[in-house]
Amino acid sequence: MSLIDDLKVGATREELGRREALGKMAGMAIGVAGAGTVFTTIRYLRPNVLFEPPTRFRVGPPSEVPKGTLVVMPEQRVYVGHLDPGYFAMTAVCTHLGCITRYMGPEEGIHCPCHGSHFSLTGEVLGGPAPAPLPRLHLEIADGELVVDTRRIVDADFFLEA
Ligand code: FES
Repeated sequence: MSLIDDLKVGATREELGRREALGKMAGMAIGVAGAGTVFTTIRYLRPNVLFEPPTRFRVGPPSEVPKGTLVVMPEQRVYVGHLDPGYFAMTAVCTHLGCITRYMGPEEGIHCPCHGSHFSLTGEVLGGPAPAPLPRLHLEIADGELVVDTRRIVDADFFLEA
């Protein structure tokens, strides 16, 4: 019966302060839970989209790739070259463990900084642990410009005459 008696007695100042504090803490907990629910709901409704560079892209007119050179497309991780047989495109991703290779110039060729693989200007393996040449990519001319399609792997002897 002491509990009922306690209710009848007017609350002391200390008890009121405690009730007020507990009320505020409960309000904050409800606020945090509500904010978490709103955030989670908004995050759930937003689609998880991974933005990647397009797989088909323009390099420019063939005149921008002079004979004997390799143009590096760092964003797409692609090399576009022009040698005697014609134009070609190949990936810059090393066939060993997927590092991005570096073009070191016409004499040096292409090197992989990770484990030292060395490739020729046309992507053949000259040294190091790479098990296969750099894959060739489909290349065509559309509206007077070279267009690479990174989804289409072509034979190593694929050259585009322009
Ligand atoms: S990833 Fe290129 S040599 Fe290992």
